[in-house]
Amino acid sequence: MTASDVAAAHSRNRFAGKVAVVTGSGSGIGRETALAFAREGAAVVVADIDTPRASRTVTEIEDRGGRATVCTVDVGDEDAIRDMVDLTVRTFGRLDVLHNNAYWAPLNRPVTETSIQEWDRTIAVTLTGVFLGCKHAIPAMIASGGGAIVNTASVAALAASPRFGAYVAAKGGVVALTRSVAFDYGSVGIRCNAVAPGLIETPATEAVLADPERRAWLTGKLIVGRAGQPTDIANAVLYLASEESAFMTGQTIVVDGGRLIS
Ligand SMILES: NC(=O)c1ccc[n+]([C@@H]2O[C@H](COP(=O)([O-])OP(=O)(O)OC[C@H]3O[C@@H](n4cnc5c(N)ncnc54)[C@H](O)[C@@H]3O)[C@@H](O)[C@H]2O)c1
Repeated sequence: MTASDVAAAHSRNRFAGKVAVVTGSGSGIGRETALAFAREGAAVVVADIDTPRASRTVTEIEDRGGRATVCTVDVGDEDAIRDMVDLTVRTFGRLDVLHNNAYWAPLNRPVTETSIQEWDRTIAVTLTGVFLGCKHAIPAMIASGGGAIVNTASVAALAASPRFGAYVAAKGGVVALTRSVAFDYGSVGIRCNAVAPGLIETPATEAVLADPERRAWLTGKLIVGRAGQPTDIANAVLYLASEESAFMTGQTIVVDGGRLIS
């Protein structure tokens, strides 16, 4: 049984009547999370800068009997994020859950080799995108009676990650911002938590995992003995977005196959 089969078998309709926005849901972790929200009853806004990829996710959801719509968005652009929230409320009438998950970062760049343009774009998409998502979703969530925000951080925010300076800084900001949003908006019914994935098999890691030696070296550091799957993260995101985690806010939970403790 795959992790996806296990998740499907335990599907509990936790999001019936709810509306979820997932950024970066044309691919990888975001796609899997969007499918999982839809499987559990949510109407999903599939938000991504890549419209054909987002459309494929929507088709997958609809083929399985779910409800979803495409939103083309650059999460670093405030007008586009405002439009994303407007589209959500116009289309589905409310907003209950936001998964801030899109990212961009140059690979293999220690700070002395990172251009200012690469730094700025990494911060704009990976950190400012989370800020803008929170800023514009929170009023719509309050109007819907409260909501839950789940940000995708990374183990790279919690331990040194080689040759990844801008990304590490942006993800560290995501962890701090998660606490700040939780603190400021808890009293009006908004919870905000983050998930910190370790090595997950997605298009983003495909190239590095295709090399058998690199794969063996990387997975050898994981206590569970395998790379993570997008479903491993989607399961944690749905928990943090659901009432099951009603007493949790401001937290970053690590889902990394035991990497950080080894
Ligand atoms: N895969 C891993 O091992 C891993 C580990 C730790 C953290 N993460 C985090 O998980 C999240 C998802 O990563 P993934 O591996 O699924 O990546 P992915 O490359 O498979 O998917 C990223 C998606 O984000 C979209 N995107 C890029 N720039 C965007 C923008 N400006 N606006 C809107 N959408 C944009 C892309 O089109 C793509 O569909 C990211 O936040 C990443 O940092 C991944």
